[in-house]
Amino acid sequence: MCGIFAYLNYLTPKSRQEVLDLLVTGLKRLEYRGYDSTGVAIDSPDNKNIVMVKRTGKVKVLEEAIQEHFSGGDYSEPVLTHIGIAHTRWATHGVPCERNSHPHRSDDGNGFVVVHNGIITNYNDVKTFLAKRGYEFESDTDTEVFAKLVHHLWKTHPTYSFRELVEQAILQVEGAFAIAVKSKHFPGECVASRRSSPLLVGIKTKTRLATDHIPILYGKDDKKQNLDQDADPGKPQVLPRSESTSEFMPLEEKEVEYFFASDASAVIEHTNRVIYLEDDDVAAVRDGTLSIHRLKKSLDDPHAREITTLKMEIQQIMKGNYDYFMQKEIFEQPDSVVNTMRGRVRFDGNAIVLGGIKDYIPEIKRCRRLMLIGCGTSYHSAVATRQLLEELTELPVMVELASDFLDRNTPIFRDDVCFFISQSGETADTLMALRYCKQRGALIVGITNTVGSSICRESHCGVHINAGPEIGVASTKAYTSQFISLVMFALVMSEDRLSLQQRRLEILQALSKLADQIREVLKLDTKVQELAKDLYQHKSLLIMGRGYNFATCLEGALKVKELTYMHSEGIMAGELKHGPLALVDDSMPVLMIVLRDPVYVKCMNALQQVTSRKGCPIIICEEGDEETQAFSSRHLEIPRTVDCLQGILTVIPMQLLSYHIAVLRGCDVDCPRNLAKSVTVE
Ligand code: G6P
Repeated sequence: MCGIFAYLNYLTPKSRQEVLDLLVTGLKRLEYRGYDSTGVAIDSPDNKNIVMVKRTGKVKVLEEAIQEHFSGGDYSEPVLTHIGIAHTRWATHGVPCERNSHPHRSDDGNGFVVVHNGIITNYNDVKTFLAKRGYEFESDTDTEVFAKLVHHLWKTHPTYSFRELVEQAILQVEGAFAIAVKSKHFPGECVASRRSSPLLVGIKTKTRLATDHIPILYGKDDKKQNLDQDADPGKPQVLPRSESTSEFMPLEEKEVEYFFASDASAVIEHTNRVIYLEDDDVAAVRDGTLSIHRLKKSLDDPHAREITTLKMEIQQIMKGNYDYFMQKEIFEQPDSVVNTMRGRVRFDGNAIVLGGIKDYIPEIKRCRRLMLIGCGTSYHSAVATRQLLEELTELPVMVELASDFLDRNTPIFRDDVCFFISQSGETADTLMALRYCKQRGALIVGITNTVGSSICRESHCGVHINAGPEIGVASTKAYTSQFISLVMFALVMSEDRLSLQQRRLEILQALSKLADQIREVLKLDTKVQELAKDLYQHKSLLIMGRGYNFATCLEGALKVKELTYMHSEGIMAGELKHGPLALVDDSMPVLMIVLRDPVYVKCMNALQQVTSRKGCPIIICEEGDEETQAFSSRHLEIPRTVDCLQGILTVIPMQLLSYHIAVLRGCDVDCPRNLAKSVTVE
């Protein structure tokens, strides 16, 4: 949900053209977060002004506009110190257009320019306040009020530093944000902050950094000022200044480059040293020195923010030989599932250790119920594993969509254990649900793919799914890794249950064969492509199954909707006769999952119900199952595995099918219309 990227070079000469290239590359890495409009701001060649270029559409369009706009000698001259900010947008307030694109400015002279991710919920109040003082607004966005508010504070409090101005503005706004601000009045400086939206600072130095942490500084008195009391313009109002405590020194480097980004994939090609900012941190760079301030001091605050070394590799965020990231990510699954199990599952000793939750297992075993909460694909991974969790934990398991869970003010108790499943770890609905449960005293377990994400940090304990960066907006490998993480949890919970040992052994053996079986399923690619040719001109696709495979139906239908813009519905086969059967005739595309598991006979009934209404389903069935195959000439055979892991093998043909239909329909596979990978607004 919007990507922020800012770059600051201090005493490391870079031409404006190089800075622009860096900004555009950074935006490309963040494009999955939103891609309806983009923009950049850099200093003008005479250093007296800020120039901005904005475009509707994807980063490619901005790149072309930049080439047109910024050519010539002035832009190739190296500059010792410079700061550029950039943004890729997923519209929330105001339609996607140049006027609503970021950066937003404070005034005609571009005094302050801001990029923002999130929603300022009280923007109307701030806007009314500023409009009364003569500010005119040129966009429909909430962000613009922030730029103008900083400008207003600068006018009324001329003695304030850039950081103090931004701090004061932050104290006035409500909602969620990550922001980066640049100013003509404070050249070479950048101030950034976050509340509920992710933001990190990348640090690149020529020599090894002398420290692995940045101390947190507090103002002596960072009080929110009463905006209604304007200062007398003739007599500047001097507000209590935030004097930093002197016992800590901020990060001072002679030659240094800083990157501010919504996520690590945008900085990894430059540096692997990052600081994840926390809510209400204000990071400021001045004279090449980075300092981190907190608005309010709280007792449990750490003294410093750690500089983390990223483990990510640059190849992980490149497409390689694949046409699309999604395609690459589908084909990575034999490896990503192994990475999820690596160091955790010991196949020789049939033991599983989940380091991130092992100390909490006794507490979890005493709980009243397990709640699994997520959105979209992450929610489906909970649906997929619910039955096994019920079986192996013998606890009631509730599966919830985060948004609905919050709408219902669901009762939560201290002895509940709540799992929050999220690839990005930043989904606003999931994060809000987490905070809701945490306030009520439940134990919070995070299942995420993004180290350092908000959900990771705010959980009591958790499992990192280790699927590697997922760039395609439609989730694929994260789903299978979430699935396996939850299966591993179920296995841990049942390790001392004698009656369940045979079942555990069966699952562990199946897990050991999974990567090879996924490779087998991926060989169906050409066959799936042929099926896609039959389907891509249709308007709808019904996907039916039950038991362990119902989640595949929901997830398959979500993939088809997201990627191809076709209607698709995942149907619980048991419900067929209660309504959906009315949709079936000889022209309605139907796909059915019929595997040799405890619900096989019931699935065969459904298959017969469909074929007797002249339906011609495509069947996903087990290798060599001739009896089932006899019902249709179009079938996809998958290897046999234990019932509770079938969902991993059946979802892959659905991922491939939606991918091929999308390509045939000419859709943008990695960036489907109207969607974003990380939805950081409620
Ligand atoms: C968005 C994405 C989906 C994703 C969902 C949850 O809607 O488009 O692909 O499943 O968010 O995201 P999360 O990062 O919490 O798993």
